Amino acid sequence: MAAEETEFERRHPRSRELHERAKLSLVGGVPMTWMVKWAGPFPIFLESAEGAHARDVDGLDYVDLCLGDTGAMAGHGPAPPVAAIERQLRRGITHMLPTEDAAWVGEELTRRFGLPLWQLTITATDANRFALRLAREITRRPFIAVHEYCYHGTVDETLAVLDGDRVVARRGNLGPQVDPGTTTRVVPYNDLDALDAALRDGEVAALLIEPALTNVGIVLPEPGYLDGVREITRRHGTVLIHDETHTICAGPGGVTGAMQLEPDMLVIGKTIGGGLPAATYGMTHEIADRVAARVTLEDVDVGGIGGTLAGYALSMAAIWATLGEVLTEAAFERMIALAERWELGVAEAIAAHSAPWNVTRLGARAEYHFMPRPARDGAEQIANADVELERFLHLWALNRGILMTPFHNMALMSPATTEADVDHHTEAFDAALGALFG
Ligand SMILES: Cc1ncc(COP(=O)(O)O)c(C=O)c1O
Repeated sequence: MAAEETEFERRHPRSRELHERAKLSLVGGVPMTWMVKWAGPFPIFLESAEGAHARDVDGLDYVDLCLGDTGAMAGHGPAPPVAAIERQLRRGITHMLPTEDAAWVGEELTRRFGLPLWQLTITATDANRFALRLAREITRRPFIAVHEYCYHGTVDETLAVLDGDRVVARRGNLGPQVDPGTTTRVVPYNDLDALDAALRDGEVAALLIEPALTNVGIVLPEPGYLDGVREITRRHGTVLIHDETHTICAGPGGVTGAMQLEPDMLVIGKTIGGGLPAATYGMTHEIADRVAARVTLEDVDVGGIGGTLAGYALSMAAIWATLGEVLTEAAFERMIALAERWELGVAEAIAAHSAPWNVTRLGARAEYHFMPRPARDGAEQIANADVELERFLHLWALNRGILMTPFHNMALMSPATTEADVDHHTEAFDAALGALFG
């Protein structure tokens, strides 16, 4: 680690200089403090990014497997959204009124995810918060439920874990407004009995889930799990919300589309605008009717669901071009094949060095884990995390021209990623295992 840190410092004089300067005016020397979570003594500062590559201010090139933690899954600056955004910039960025693109966007979301009606927001966090509010409003129930070690953005009531049978604030939950035990039920992933028990008393308005966990590392559903979730939530009258913000990597319609699942509501953000802030939540006709029965026109803008810029014209143009021309079915086929190649390369290196690790994959996203077999739920995944080892591997990769997502060992493929990019990672990973295990 010391050798890698010395090498990092040698390679990044300009980033260090900029970080020192930014420290005088920005908390931690970065626009958002999680940016200092990147491996290395200080964050690198980027000069530009194009396709699947990024270039830092010291002139070094990187294969970007982080892709803005899915925000740039379409690749950096793909031509169709850039052209659509440039065109729309001259026609009005935001006007509090719909443009023609909006109608196409709604139709395309329905085609991909199956739900008939949509609303637009700026972030996935907002979309999740709004979906939960609506579910509470129409069911008149006080609780929501989530998977343990989920992440759905900065949605207060989801930042909760189990302490034995008790729901408590997750470590690091900053200044929770209320005790999450009064708002939230937490269930382990892949545990239908626990879910049934959590919903049985009819007090839970909504279950908000990623169909596969991604934020604690990829944990895949066991056969029958997602069908079981649907059956139990239906039986207890709990609104089922799928958050496909990351699991869109499974295919053009995410896990919901790939497995033909039937959630009551669905959220997706980050990537749909090609990097421009945009997110959405969809619902069934039944949910929309129940909402309409409770919300009057006078109150639609003061009910806790809003955002002056939500659905702004620029974002609609960006979604139109990103979904229409970049994240297409053909692009997913290529991206998934590349992720399979990445997975195979990592699995071969793990086997060659007899490392007690495993690799999991969901469509165009794959990840290695520091345990010999895949975890079954979030708690098991967390128990096998190793922050120091993770930082070492990320720094090793960074020093060899590869950006890994700072929060996990995840690699994501974009339509611009190439086989050479994947193989570059495989070689560096194999060498890291050689250094660690001989
Ligand atoms: C599954 C999921 N949902 C929602 C969000 C929140 O996205 P944003 O931070 O863009 O609001 C995230 C962020 O990582 C996420 O992983």
